[in-house]
Amino acid sequence: MKFFIDTANVDEIREAASLGVLDGVTTNPTLLGREIERTHRRPEDILREICEIVNGPVSAEGVSLDAEGIVKEGKELAKIHKNICIKVPMTPDGMKAIRKFRSLGITTNTTLVFSCNQALIAAKAGTNYLSPFIGRLDDAGHSGMELVDQILTMLENYEFDSQLIVASIRHPLHVVEASLIGAHICTIPFKVIKLMFKHPLTDQGIKRFLEDWERAKKFKK
Ligand code: G3P
Repeated sequence: MKFFIDTANVDEIREAASLGVLDGVTTNPTLLGREIERTHRRPEDILREICEIVNGPVSAEGVSLDAEGIVKEGKELAKIHKNICIKVPMTPDGMKAIRKFRSLGITTNTTLVFSCNQALIAAKAGTNYLSPFIGRLDDAGHSGMELVDQILTMLENYEFDSQLIVASIRHPLHVVEASLIGAHICTIPFKVIKLMFKHPLTDQGIKRFLEDWERAKKFKK
């Protein structure tokens, strides 16, 4: 499974990248807006820095809703770095834009996917990645992971090339479940990545090894 980080915070991205397990980054207008507020930097500078930190796809999203506008904004974003992948909303105009991006050789990530039919349309349109938002589905009383399972079956049935990114992850169990059903990618908030490292028995084990070693040192010649 590939790990992407779901943030535009360059400090978090740098730290996660230093762990050696990061394959890509996803941002959205909310996340990029938060980073602009935090650093007072231009969005293109933030995205360029992210691309320099992580050698993998970096999803960036515009705010246009019509196909022409999505393509125009996407082309500008794609100029920032070769690894920029354009997030496209799961709408009829978004799907029209995907066809255009394909002809231009620009990669796409269909965002805000909440049903198997939407994923089927995005796969047929030729999206490179598609992102079901599982936490938001769970919040609404539906099973996000059931949707991931359905989409994976659908992609396999017809041998689509689109890769599924499990998005809107809220806790480590989401990642466990996604890995057990064979999701291609999880995009994970930094705080969840940190939690995935933790186990109280690991901490206890380290503490005990150090205490035992300290005790043994007294007997050293
Ligand atoms: O990648 C999608 C993600 O940023 C949405 O997460 O927590 O706003 O539902 P959330």
